[in-house]
Amino acid sequence: MALHIQTKQESVELGRRLFAGECKFFAGSNALENLPIESLPEIAFAGRSNVGKSSLINALTRQSALARISKTPGRTQQINFFDLSNKLILVDLPGYGYAKASKSKISGWTQLVHTYLKGRPTLHRICLLIDARHGIKPSDKTLMATLDQAAVVYQIILTKIDKVSHQEIETKKNEISLVLNLHPAGHPEIIETSSRNFSGIPKLRASLAALAAPDQVS
Ligand code: GTP
Ligand code: MG
Repeated sequence: MALHIQTKQESVELGRRLFAGECKFFAGSNALENLPIESLPEIAFAGRSNVGKSSLINALTRQSALARISKTPGRTQQINFFDLSNKLILVDLPGYGYAKASKSKISGWTQLVHTYLKGRPTLHRICLLIDARHGIKPSDKTLMATLDQAAVVYQIILTKIDKVSHQEIETKKNEISLVLNLHPAGHPEIIETSSRNFSGIPKLRASLAALAAPDQVS
């Protein structure tokens, strides 16, 4: 049988179809004991508070109120699981780094997030979101080191690119690539996105659709 190599257009179309399907919240966990049973491939969205994790899930699924967003850092306070057409699970994580919440709450979330990310067999990809204005911060490097140790692959997604110039995006990407060279589990491709004007969203959908098992994307 001849091997069919997917074109870029075909993979974008596959992503479009997958993310046009129904997406529903099905579980929220605030402790490792109440995580849902592992089933479909999971994609987790991690990053500092306010980087745009929940907004990105809404942009990918075209549902403006699926994941709750806020101007105040610390909006997402538990691990939220969304079922995308019974084909992929999107996981919205609480942010780390800073938040308008108590120190003990923040350290509790950070620990929960790190432990979940290190030890979940069904986790196929971590999207590590970095604000295009700010670049990689020490709290991101801490998570990257944890993931390197656990050999869990993560991909850098630049967010809020509508707020910066092309030149600034290139500078940030070069800086991030240098950091990625030091981190073995980091995926070399950086995807630039804006949840405001949807740039990069079709490309990210295509990249994530490729992670669903072939018979689960139709
Ligand atoms: P926590 O749940 O607190 O960790 O935050 P989060 O990472 O989920 O961020 P959230 O999606 O709640 O967005 C934080 C703020 O950034 C909100 O005011 C969003 O409207 C804004 N925002 C998110 N994505 C974008 C983007 O692509 N462009 C612009 N201009 N603003 C964005
Ligand atoms: Mg959030």
